[in-house]
Amino acid sequence: MGGLRILGIETSCDETAAAVVHRREDGTGEILSDVVLSQLDLHAAFGGVVPELAARSHVSVLDRLVSEALADSGVALGDIDAIAVTSGPGLIGGLMVGLMTAKAIAMAMALPFLGVNHLEGHALTARLTDNVAFPYLLLLVSGGHTQIVLVNGVGDYERWGTTIDDALGEAFDKTAKLLGLGYPGGPAVEQAALSGVPRRFRLPVPMRRDPRLDFSFSGLKTAVRQMAEAEAPLSDQTIADLCLAFQLSVTASLDDRIAMALERFSQRFGTGSRPALVVAGGVAANKAIRTTLEARAGKAGFRFIAPPLNLCTDNAAMIAWAGAERMAAGLPFDGLDLAPRSRWPLDEAATALIGHGKRGAKA
Ligand code: KG4
Ligand code: ZN
Repeated sequence: MGGLRILGIETSCDETAAAVVHRREDGTGEILSDVVLSQLDLHAAFGGVVPELAARSHVSVLDRLVSEALADSGVALGDIDAIAVTSGPGLIGGLMVGLMTAKAIAMAMALPFLGVNHLEGHALTARLTDNVAFPYLLLLVSGGHTQIVLVNGVGDYERWGTTIDDALGEAFDKTAKLLGLGYPGGPAVEQAALSGVPRRFRLPVPMRRDPRLDFSFSGLKTAVRQMAEAEAPLSDQTIADLCLAFQLSVTASLDDRIAMALERFSQRFGTGSRPALVVAGGVAANKAIRTTLEARAGKAGFRFIAPPLNLCTDNAAMIAWAGAERMAAGLPFDGLDLAPRSRWPLDEAATALIGHGKRGAKA
């Protein structure tokens, strides 16, 4: 029975999830069980996540999901080494549900307890799936976050860029909504773009060559709205053409930003060891985006790592794994008085002092 077996719980947004992960002594990982219940149907009618409904739904299903995850894993609760739960960032009601459940189990079983940053879960997933070595560059693109992060080690992150307005997934969702497509918008926009005619509509590429490595997507969404209003009533073809223009524009923006980030990484660490560009978050499901990033990484001498789709979107295996990594690194456990945090940046220094990183001022 070597290594660590961790039970993970995730309830920060609209997925209720529980999982058991094994981290071997050599640092490799294995998912023993991974149960996810999406609340998509619950929120679809509202065109977005309704926090109160989300929290109530987490309450009603979490106990069952934890039992299922334990049963599927074949690990008895008595053989679990610690319990890890998302304690932020996210919707406060949902976080409280996960924390209460995790604390109750930890108390009843006298288990070590770890509050995990949801973003750290996304950031470390590539080590679970591909055993990626530090340091590596992470592009996190989800409904709530769009960040370029230097992952130096467990608990050691530098945020190199972030969105100055909408998250990329949010921009996909809002664009879909204004074009009358379903929720979540990302898959709907990607699907529609497949039959789009290139170059019928032209959109600017946000932040192109801006030295700050940040993103901006809200102007793009406004441009799509204005074009759609000018073309109303919209035919399916026009919707497809607008979706394609939007997707081409965000893809070009990501490509530009990532090219600059890879260059910065190379200057600092070199590329002799073929370092990794890792992509995570729900938007990483987008094939056009994946293909573009993969080509860019290859050109710059980087490996491209994209976890399987079920591990890109929200899940509890990534939370259990982050807990295991923290434990293996000797980081401290949390007390049962741990409070949820609706905001919790991975790189605390980046938000405390805008324009300054942990290691001093950034350009
Ligand atoms: O990581 P995630 O499951 O949830 C969090 O936000 O934490 O990401 C969900 C986001 C949604 O905004 C959704 O529209 C977007 O990921 N998404 C996509 C695609 N699939 C999901 N965006 C673009 N293309 C896709 N194929
Ligand atoms: Zn997420």
